Amino acid sequence: MKEPNQHIAQLLMQFHGIDVSPFDETFLEKSIQKRIAEINCLTPEDYYAFLRKNKKEGTRFLHSLFICYSEFFRNALTFGVLEHIVLPALIAKKLNSKQKEIRIWSAACAAGHEAYSLAMLLEELKNGNADKFSYRIFATDQSQAQIKEAQKGHYSDAALNNINLKRLDHWFAKQGYAYAIKPELKTHINFSVFDLFNQELNAPPESIFGDFDLVICANLLFYYKPEYQKIILTKVNKCLAKGGFLMTGETERDILSKNDYNEVYLQSGIFKMKNN
Ligand SMILES: C[S@@+](CC[C@H](N)C(=O)[O-])C[C@H]1O[C@@H](n2cnc3c(N)ncnc32)[C@H](O)[C@@H]1O
Repeated sequence: MKEPNQHIAQLLMQFHGIDVSPFDETFLEKSIQKRIAEINCLTPEDYYAFLRKNKKEGTRFLHSLFICYSEFFRNALTFGVLEHIVLPALIAKKLNSKQKEIRIWSAACAAGHEAYSLAMLLEELKNGNADKFSYRIFATDQSQAQIKEAQKGHYSDAALNNINLKRLDHWFAKQGYAYAIKPELKTHINFSVFDLFNQELNAPPESIFGDFDLVICANLLFYYKPEYQKIILTKVNKCLAKGGFLMTGETERDILSKNDYNEVYLQSGIFKMKNN
């Protein structure tokens, strides 16, 4: 990292108590540049001086590191493989086993798009088997504000780009300018705050014992340095069920390939742990 940015990182730690060392350095540099532009500072040195005088800026900078952008059915190929291969396979497995519940963890769910997309697919895949299996989605994020948004489940029409008319009609109700997720879909999802760097727990407490058939850890790993990606993946490994799947973002596939995962369907972003 360039020297002025290193000084900013040190100041964040010493003066604001904010440790930015887990974050990827290029991402950190871009975030500093972005913040400099937003508050009309001219140089990193000016920003350093501003940060020294302004306690609130530390918190604002920290918030700027958590990018919360999400979409319903964010990657068409990944969600296609989920719909046509992975979820039908999990349903078939549950129909033939004593444990009838499909357990899913959406581990950085932002405002809930990912969890609701999965619930829509599972509802649509029930067919005549509605009473023969169940599913529960544990959806967590480090941000309390995002979890509140997710629980509310209200979205603007700009957020509905990937939702076809049939789904829009079936799963959303128009409320003023917003589209509200139908309560029926919400009953399958537990939203809660959980930091993936939690040192005591491997899985969200609501899930009690983990044992997930599918974990989604998408569009989050690339913000962190490789050693911190490993910490998150070690946590995930411990709570995947035997033969469980891990889904990641389009640009994070290499990270999983380097960390003992095999991509089960080419380019899909859906992996299985080697030897599991
Ligand atoms: C870009 S969003 C991705 C949302 C969704 N998974 C997707 O792919 O559309 C990244 C999310 O990761 C969350 N996040 C970042 N670091 C985290 C951590 N250490 N523990 C839990 N959530 C984290 C952020 O709060 C943010 O909501």
